Amino acid sequence: MKYVMGIDLGTSGVKAILVDENGKVCGETSKPYRLIQDKSGYCEQNPDDWVEQTIAAMKELIARQPVHRRQVEGISFSGQMHGLVLLDESCQVLRPAILWNDTRTTAQCTRITKMLGERLRTITKNHALEGFTLPKLLWVKEHEPDIDQQIDMFLLPKDYVRFRLTGAVHIDYSDAAGTLLLDIGGQMWSEEICQTFDIPLHICPPLVSSETEVGTLLPQVAREVGMRRGVKVFAGGADNACGAIGAGILSPGHTLCSIGTSGVILSYEEDHDRELHGNVHLFHHAKKDAFYTMGVTLSAGYSLDWIKSLLAPDESFKELVEEVADVAPGANGLLFTPYLVGERTPYADSIIRGSLIGLDSRHERRHVVRAVLEGITFSLNESIVLFRQAGKRIDSIVSIGGGARSQTWLQMQADIFQAEVIQLENEQGPALGAAMLAAVGCGWFQSLETCADQFIHQATVYKPNQQHVDIYDHLFRLYQRIYTRTRDIHVELEHYRSS
Ligand code: XUL
Repeated sequence: MKYVMGIDLGTSGVKAILVDENGKVCGETSKPYRLIQDKSGYCEQNPDDWVEQTIAAMKELIARQPVHRRQVEGISFSGQMHGLVLLDESCQVLRPAILWNDTRTTAQCTRITKMLGERLRTITKNHALEGFTLPKLLWVKEHEPDIDQQIDMFLLPKDYVRFRLTGAVHIDYSDAAGTLLLDIGGQMWSEEICQTFDIPLHICPPLVSSETEVGTLLPQVAREVGMRRGVKVFAGGADNACGAIGAGILSPGHTLCSIGTSGVILSYEEDHDRELHGNVHLFHHAKKDAFYTMGVTLSAGYSLDWIKSLLAPDESFKELVEEVADVAPGANGLLFTPYLVGERTPYADSIIRGSLIGLDSRHERRHVVRAVLEGITFSLNESIVLFRQAGKRIDSIVSIGGGARSQTWLQMQADIFQAEVIQLENEQGPALGAAMLAAVGCGWFQSLETCADQFIHQATVYKPNQQHVDIYDHLFRLYQRIYTRTRDIHVELEHYRSS
């Protein structure tokens, strides 16, 4: 039997899986790393932590099944998007990576929008939003000129880890699309954007497609993780693109709900000329010549992590989430908005913060947790509303990640999204998409579609419950009012946030 390894470099940790030719997941492990949040709105990580923990995860996976060590044929990656890793000319990291959920770059976004006007949308197909890579690069130029002087190359998170494992530097189109430096139509770095902001073109890494074989494991890495030399490494893709592959979102009409630290609603696109509304993004898929549109909730799983750390640090997520099953929709009159670090879709807003509205002395922990789950799901529903307004038909949605691990939350998604919600068998999130890219790269399958036929199977379909749909329809409208009615309060509260 042959195997491939899929590695997903997430925000809270790295996950590695081992998958055989039949699509059976034979091993799985995760390793955490820390977030550095020195100031409100800042979110950084140490790239060395990613490398160290990725190697630890690979090693553990192989050590658990030493019989597989000689039979792993290929490895590929999925990774948190947009994060800026800066290297000097000897490939040393210049500063901690600035992540996708760091919102310090509002001024840079305003400048990008002003200087490029409509050209930005024409070239990159996206608006300038705080999370993307170009605003981060401009922030470093403005605030850290000493670092700027030394920049020889920028990379995205998974590309940096892959570089450390192979010695080869590349970026794939699905991640390059999230930098705001890519000419999406022309499939090349935009000279116009680089020139406008005085960014030397040579600091942009070479572009490849996701299933390209970019090298093999360095001998010392192969030795350390216990694999044979010569294991092929494939480029891989952005986590949301890989999540979509692993959920079979490979043709028009398919929609994904993925809840990790962020939460996204993603819809497959055949081409790149769809009109975008309300801070929905358009990026390259990790499937060749395909695209997707996507709305993003910055703090989806992160909101649940946060409430768990406050109210139930010693219990499991399972226990915490199961507790809400007996609470009726509406959480006994509580509404939560998940704007813990600001928001992306539908409001790109670095100042807004979350609200918990309707607190009553009779509320218990389970009501608060239910309100948090509902608030996250309402926020994701904002993206579905935007897609439907743009004329998309969304009758069914494949759900992956944290939201797919609880029957209660899956049913809640069906009731709030007013669509059938599909749970997959043995769902593995973006790591499976990465493994599928390796499987296709190794030549096991002719296409991602044939690989998906073998690897992906539906488990349960959750249908909307009409009584709950009506309740949530009303609550969603109340939820939508919170943003506009609290915005000015948050502007004033910002002065009291410790920096
Ligand atoms: C997408 C985004 C997040 C990260 C999370 O635009 O910023 O979903 O990819 O890893």
